[in-house]
Amino acid sequence: MSLPAEEFAPVPLSAVLRQGTRDAHAGANSERFIEELLSGGLTRAAHADLTAQLLPVYEALEEASAALGDDHRGAGLVFAELARVPALERDLAFLYGPGWREEIRILPATRAYADHVREVGGSLPHYTAHSYTRYLGDLSGGQIVKRMMKEHYGLDEEGVAFYTFPDIPKVKVFKDAYRHQLDLLDLDDDEVAATLAETHLAFTLNRAVFTELAAVHC
Ligand code: HEM
Repeated sequence: MSLPAEEFAPVPLSAVLRQGTRDAHAGANSERFIEELLSGGLTRAAHADLTAQLLPVYEALEEASAALGDDHRGAGLVFAELARVPALERDLAFLYGPGWREEIRILPATRAYADHVREVGGSLPHYTAHSYTRYLGDLSGGQIVKRMMKEHYGLDEEGVAFYTFPDIPKVKVFKDAYRHQLDLLDLDDDEVAATLAETHLAFTLNRAVFTELAAVHC
């Protein structure tokens, strides 16, 4: 008896990552710092500190995006409308004032995260893992974070530009297009495994930053 071809169809990378990180995701968003920040139990300074920690991470990630270049297999994952560094710089100038570069304090876990992204970002599975974890997260839970920061900490649009994607009018449509690009990457089995493993590491690196932020703010 012959089976329909779809019985053998490989699981698309977007589904591998979504299903494979469900528990890691639940763990990350039940971190004490995140729970207290989102429920309004912290201060605007805690939001500012989280924003500060994101800057080195996105500098490293977006350097890796630029280095992928037009002809690389991963170029389909690089979208100009996702770039977050300029928005982070605007938020930090608003939250800390014009001397923000001297004011912000980068935590050891943040340094470790950014250094790691810089170290591995030239490898497609690793780049994919870090791009997926941050950008799809920003376009998903990030939109909830934005609403909560505005509601609890008296912010309007200034100070939450990081969570606003002015060139992405329909987030769901964009997320589907991003997932489609993930599925077109044409990774072999070892590369898919490496991508999933690195995505778990990306969640762990984010959680380490939340743990250090909790020690300061909770
Ligand atoms: C702050 C608390 C968080 C909330 C409330 C939250 C909420 C959500 C929600 C509702 C989705 C589903 C969106 C959809 O189906 O389209 C989602 C997806 C996602 N989140 Fe979070 N999240 C949070 C934290 C995080 C963190 C800390 C990370 C990692 C750094 C993260 C990474 C992701 C990723 C990668 C996805 C996409 C899953 C996929 O469709 O493949 N989230 N989040």
